[in-house]
Amino acid sequence: MPITVMPVTPDFVAEIGDVDLSLPLSGADLEAIRQAFWKYAVLVFPQQQLTTDQQLAFSGHWGPVEKERTLDPKATPTRFSGAFADISNLNAAGEIWGEDSRQRMYKAGNKLWHTDSSFKRLPSLCSLLYAETVVPIGGHTEFADQRAAYDALPEAMKKKLEGLVAEHWIATSRRRSGFHEFNEDERKRLPPVPQMLVRLIPQNRRKSLFVASHAGRIWGMPDDEGRALIDELIAHVTQRQFVYTHRWRANELVMWDNRCTMHRGTDFDDLRWVRVMRRVTISDVANSCEQAGVAPPEALPA
Ligand code: OGA
Ligand code: MN
Repeated sequence: MPITVMPVTPDFVAEIGDVDLSLPLSGADLEAIRQAFWKYAVLVFPQQQLTTDQQLAFSGHWGPVEKERTLDPKATPTRFSGAFADISNLNAAGEIWGEDSRQRMYKAGNKLWHTDSSFKRLPSLCSLLYAETVVPIGGHTEFADQRAAYDALPEAMKKKLEGLVAEHWIATSRRRSGFHEFNEDERKRLPPVPQMLVRLIPQNRRKSLFVASHAGRIWGMPDDEGRALIDELIAHVTQRQFVYTHRWRANELVMWDNRCTMHRGTDFDDLRWVRVMRRVTISDVANSCEQAGVAPPEALPA
């Protein structure tokens, strides 16, 4: 039986059924998932029982798996290292994290609108997040469609944004969520990087905004003007008509296109309920400026 594609919204989110991601997929099923992914940008796969190896095997169909975690594992050990980001409120020993733990302070940044790994020079194509244990209240993930938001911009704004490059830096988003304590290793590995403010998605020829809480400055603009423009664009993208709220069920995998969506986690009582998720992130083919044929500008002055 071929897979079932059930739209949740007309062209942003779809549920995929009649597929078991724990097994090797036929070429036809994989191609059908691929086509759905380019059309929708967020795919939900309910009722999957996935081991880490099976999640990794399905993720590997989309490109190279990111191997390096953002935080120094020596300073902040988690339940996983390497290919998996630990999206849970558990510490390395599997207990609910401490109120003042470094992990908790850092992860608070996931509640800001962002796109994974735009702060890396080689950004991400997509993320695949699997929910093992969900919470009874809150703990949703919201997604915003940056393609639809681009389409809805006034022509004058589209013109103004043409060719602009933004600086993405993990310290920018973390400063905003109150995390200031990157260590030497993390600072060295994660310098600010350039990314296009508008991207062309090659698989569907749609244009998309590419903003995130990691974006702080714009090349060729005074800092406060760039900041104001980024804030204005984030406010535009995250208007209700571009946003889908995902209410998780246990054993569900959701994959999203980091090139043209933003997401954020909603609050839950993380010192009371256990929420266990794990994420694999896939790299894009090149920096967004290189893909656009724009030579990445020199670093902005610090
Ligand atoms: C992520 C993320 C939000 C959430 O896994 O990349 O931002 O709801 N998650 O946990
Ligand atoms: Mn994220």
